[in-house]
Amino acid sequence: MCEARKRRRGEVKHLQYTFPNHLKTLGIDKTYYIKTYGCQGNIADSEKIAGIMESLGYNPASNEAGADVLFFNTCAIRDHAEKRVFGELGRLKGLKVANPNLLIVLCGCMPQEEATIELIKQKYDQVDIVFGTHNIYNLPTLLEEAYQTRHPIVEVMSFEGDIIEEIPLKRGHSKKAWVDIMYGCDEFCTYCIVPYTRGTERSRYPEDIIREVTSLKEEGYLEVTLLGQNVNAYGKDFTDRTYGFSDLLWDLQGINIPRIRFTTSHPRDLDPKTMDVMAKGNHIMPHLHLPVQSGSNAILKKMNRKYTQEEYLDKIARLRTLIPDIAITTDIIIGFPGESEEDFEATLELVRKAQFEGAYTFIFSPRQGTPAAKFEDTTDFSMKKARLLKLNELINEGFARGNQRFEGQIVEVLVEGVSEKKKHLLNGYTPHNKLVNFEGPKDLIGTMVRVFIEKAYTWHLKGVMVEHEKTT
Ligand code: 5AD
Ligand code: SF4
Repeated sequence: MCEARKRRRGEVKHLQYTFPNHLKTLGIDKTYYIKTYGCQGNIADSEKIAGIMESLGYNPASNEAGADVLFFNTCAIRDHAEKRVFGELGRLKGLKVANPNLLIVLCGCMPQEEATIELIKQKYDQVDIVFGTHNIYNLPTLLEEAYQTRHPIVEVMSFEGDIIEEIPLKRGHSKKAWVDIMYGCDEFCTYCIVPYTRGTERSRYPEDIIREVTSLKEEGYLEVTLLGQNVNAYGKDFTDRTYGFSDLLWDLQGINIPRIRFTTSHPRDLDPKTMDVMAKGNHIMPHLHLPVQSGSNAILKKMNRKYTQEEYLDKIARLRTLIPDIAITTDIIIGFPGESEEDFEATLELVRKAQFEGAYTFIFSPRQGTPAAKFEDTTDFSMKKARLLKLNELINEGFARGNQRFEGQIVEVLVEGVSEKKKHLLNGYTPHNKLVNFEGPKDLIGTMVRVFIEKAYTWHLKGVMVEHEKTT
């Protein structure tokens, strides 16, 4: 992992996936199941894994017990995420007895950590294949080897991944699509494992992204979410052209796919050109997820975030002058090493001033190999939990306030499915990314409808449909 910091830009190869024709029947009469943990990046990777598996003839299993190949696409961002996976792996020995041909595959971010690989080798001999975030394209060969040798196979390329286009994809949704625009991260926030697990920043060529979004539009998709760890750094690694995230947004909005979203943005790199296209371009949704992490300038410095509370607030103020109704959400880490009561108060102050309409909040989790894991941390955990509770109360007020502003209005909803808790209700999201529940027939799923909002709750809006335009 210490090698990761020494990396240089500009060595990325853009290659095409080649399908191993001799393996096209490898999965006939066999099934696969993928358990995905963590961020949208992993969800998008699971769509590639599923695409490759089906191109090899495998069928999806309806649950893990019915699978012949069981994937754990893992997350390493916090200790909790890793513990869950180890817990699950422990339970799997029984499944192997029931199905001796079962292959267990560990992939995603955890295999990019050396300590995890060692632990798997020593204690989890039920795992057959381990591969990292840069090796997905090589899955067919890894499976072939595993069937032939029946010995555990570990293939983890270190940090320098190439960009492989045309990997088959099995998308999880027929109207909303994830589109990777770049991989990796070069920010090295001191708490974060991602630059080590996902490697150096590498941008896909705009022509490849434009082609993908154009075909999604032709297939009837209504929404794309552009993915990258720091989308605002898109294009900075190109050596043959000057083309950045704002250029990409201008080009993509011209395709006329109804909804464009993107995640995640870095406050330092969010530039005026991007704000301009968000304001003037068509189809770019009025919601921005802009992780702030802390309101204390001392903590932001220790986190290596490269902005101050004032600079963050200035940026969002500027954004609100351009897009007055934009919904802004964020991520906050509580209990970073050395966080004093004063630092915590600064975070509360920032939350009040920023008027966030939602946030993911976390207690700092030391990640082995990151600088912050070695910082002195004297705050006890119960204090961190108390701070988190207090912060969440404030965040929830913002969530509710953000929902209330839509009471009495008509909003457009992309209908996603049936409400989990109330099966007679449909649900979907508005342009501002607000969850709406309403009554309607199931054949509206996958269409855009207009809903009158009768009541706002903390976590969702409740409304009645006023009309709908069938788009399928
Ligand atoms: N501990 C706690 N939260 C973390 N995040 C990233 N690394 C850590 C860590 N070590 C949070 C950040 C980031 C989100 C995806 O996860 O808030 O924005
Ligand atoms: Fe991690 Fe910071 Fe990169 Fe986000 S920007 S992925 S927090 S290193």
